[in-house]
Amino acid sequence: AIIRREDYTPFPWLVPQVHLSFELGVEQTRVTSRLTVERNPAADASPTIRLNGDGLKLSELQVDGEPCSTHAMDGDDLVVTLPGERHELTIVTQIDPAANSQLMGLYASNGMLCTQCEAEGFRRITFFPDRPDVLSTYTVRMSGPAAQFPILLCNGNKADSGGDGDTHWAEWHDPWPKPAYLFALVAGDLVARSDSFTTTGGRTVELNVWVRDGDLDRTEHAMESLKRSMKWDEEVFGREYDLDLFNIVAVSDFNMGAMENKGLNVFNTKYVLADQETATDGDFDGVEGVIGHEYFHNWSGNRITCRDWFQLSLKEGFTVLRDQLFSQDMDSAPVKRIEDVRILRGVQFPEDSGPLAHSIRPDSYREISNFYTPTIYNKGAEVIRMMRTMAGEEAFRKGTDLYFDRHDGEAATCEDFITAIEDGAGLDLRQFRLWYSQAGTPKVSVAVTHDGDTAALTFKQDIPATPGQADKQPMPIPLRIALFDRESGKHDGEHLVMLDTAEKEVRFAGFAAPPVLSINRGFSAPVTIDRAVSRDDLVFLAAKDDDPFARYEAMQDLMVGHLVSAVAGEMDSAERDAARQDIACAFAAVLEDDRLDDLMRGELLMMPSQAYLSEQMLLAEPGRIHEEREALKAALGSALESQLLTLHKRASALPFALDQAAKGARKVKTVALTYLAAAKPDTASDLAEKQYSGADNMTDRQGALMVLAGLQSPARTGALLDFYNRYRDNPLVVDKWFSLQASSLHPQVLQHVKALRDHPDFTLKNPNRVRALYMAFAASPHAFHAEDGEGYRMIADLILELDPINAQTAARFVTPLGRWQRIEPARSALMRGELERIAEAGNLSRDTFEQVTRSLG
Ligand code: ARG
Ligand code: ZN
Repeated sequence: AIIRREDYTPFPWLVPQVHLSFELGVEQTRVTSRLTVERNPAADASPTIRLNGDGLKLSELQVDGEPCSTHAMDGDDLVVTLPGERHELTIVTQIDPAANSQLMGLYASNGMLCTQCEAEGFRRITFFPDRPDVLSTYTVRMSGPAAQFPILLCNGNKADSGGDGDTHWAEWHDPWPKPAYLFALVAGDLVARSDSFTTTGGRTVELNVWVRDGDLDRTEHAMESLKRSMKWDEEVFGREYDLDLFNIVAVSDFNMGAMENKGLNVFNTKYVLADQETATDGDFDGVEGVIGHEYFHNWSGNRITCRDWFQLSLKEGFTVLRDQLFSQDMDSAPVKRIEDVRILRGVQFPEDSGPLAHSIRPDSYREISNFYTPTIYNKGAEVIRMMRTMAGEEAFRKGTDLYFDRHDGEAATCEDFITAIEDGAGLDLRQFRLWYSQAGTPKVSVAVTHDGDTAALTFKQDIPATPGQADKQPMPIPLRIALFDRESGKHDGEHLVMLDTAEKEVRFAGFAAPPVLSINRGFSAPVTIDRAVSRDDLVFLAAKDDDPFARYEAMQDLMVGHLVSAVAGEMDSAERDAARQDIACAFAAVLEDDRLDDLMRGELLMMPSQAYLSEQMLLAEPGRIHEEREALKAALGSALESQLLTLHKRASALPFALDQAAKGARKVKTVALTYLAAAKPDTASDLAEKQYSGADNMTDRQGALMVLAGLQSPARTGALLDFYNRYRDNPLVVDKWFSLQASSLHPQVLQHVKALRDHPDFTLKNPNRVRALYMAFAASPHAFHAEDGEGYRMIADLILELDPINAQTAARFVTPLGRWQRIEPARSALMRGELERIAEAGNLSRDTFEQVTRSLG
């Protein structure tokens, strides 16, 4: 069935109180739920109440203390006839957490029990109106064997606990009304790193990060990140925490990154555990970002939740923006911005231009799990960031204050958010609302002309058609621009151009000569820019632009421009040499510019990804893109060999620290190695081997191993074996070992992945492990896109095998095959063939069925 946004109606019943009692067992858990229900005065009256279920069997049902005879099953749902205004329902279900491989609802992971209820997992625990606009106060009793589950955690505050012999129990109460998707419980043998935080209002909050014994010394960074998040949200958004307790639990089997359950955040171990020896700098940043994200949900998500799942971006887009701004403030703001744009363009832009394109507030879905997408999350964040850019920081804060104030305790809509920003920040967002309803990445073309002392910029916008949306209206696009004087290398200030019509001309006086245009500075709008720009101008901007993002962009454009024409076969060898020389000069300038810090230098030296390059072409030829990209790498590696060696040496001299200088040094070290590896494999292999064996941290070790894994060098096998033996007991590092091989530049990747599939450490039951092997593989251009279609076949086989085990994770693998419309004809047919093979298989989950059907178009 297709669910439509326009069909929303309020639920006919309120459920003010929920009492749950869990008799916990790994293979059998008995759930007794007691609900107080009353008629919702704001809804049409209904003679029945529909309680959602998913695969549940009803053991017992009472209405007002009497066995009930007026109920019926409708599919998986339980429908009860209720005559009066107010009733008490008692519902008993029995579930088997160990058999729950979908990891939704209550499941077992490593002997402990935990829950994941967003979006619709609560209905796998008990019959309930499982929709985000039904808010209840929860009181929960948990009991179970004390030896097996010494720790019993739930939302809110612990009210009481006790025990008799082998069994013990705890009672929890959460004073804040919440929808069922924010319910959580955890039972297991856990240890905590504990600390506390005192809010500005004077509340002392106990903080715990719960992990398995043995992982405790890798929780310091998570705890520090949590305290920084709490402080930052008070300072920047005026948001204080509202309970006396905040628990975080790390779980090794988890479908996503983490979950913001009230007072009890449940995390994928990947986003909690980090130390110098086992986590890279990127992993450290990931922990900080996700800890912040989940914490910030306490206001943007929990205190104000979503009316229905079409409003998902209300909490996710806003919370992603909040976590991005937090990380910008904690670390290097320009580098964080560049990283966020790279993710957006690498993942969301392809989504927006493919068969799964949808607006940030979709109109329909079959399976809501399929809409936890880069569009809802990352584009959603960009859309709110544009409001902030248009309003300015101060006015934007007035808008968010008003939003929090006006809707606290409610299940709100995106429309509520926009209205609050309009009223609080004083913006007119009538036309801007189109960003919520129109999918597709706008293309802005711009031309610069010069006449007398005036420069004129002519803008055009065009929003491509997307599935179900053929015609689009122009949207307001805020573009930060600057016009550089060629002589002085300076500009006289930045302008914010609002492009809100299909075409627009803007004139700037005071230019004796044609200026150099720097556009979409800071990536002020999530659009693509189309302009005829000379390589000279790009070299100019790459050296002189004072906006770090624009400078990065000029470097990217230099490489993208060259690679796109090279792939198209538009260049003779003289043109190719000239282009490469210009790029090498720009690289040399970056290598030598001593005003740059290494973190930023690393960004400027980064090559555009295969995904981003493919996106620039109507029909991508993966093999050719890969070839040209590697060839450019090799050309740069040999042109700059001595500078890269010097850089590697300088950076290697710095001792380990977590500060930005040391992080930057580690980043450029591995960047240098990747260029050298393309040009001088033997030299690079020696250097990488030394970096590998001398490493005192995971960033250096993994970087070196990545380079080695791509080389056909004798050192390769030994290093991979050493890495495995060193870390075989640490699942997160074993994941890296799988990923490195699946994404390597080695010509035999397909064979490696097949062998790894049969490795004793591989399992389809653990999403991190599945993603480590197969997501890495699906992103590898030469192996996934092997000419004979074997890569496509492997992903399709995986989807079919994984679907009955973990549908949510299986469905995510449809995306890479869904690119078929944008790939050259031979591969395109093979990809489509695999999608059809999946579609024809019987018994597909709703998740995979929806993604495959949409992908076929
Ligand atoms: N709300 C979570 C977050 O973004 C994501 C949980 C999604 N879970 C799911 N099974 N779809 O922080
Ligand atoms: Zn979130």
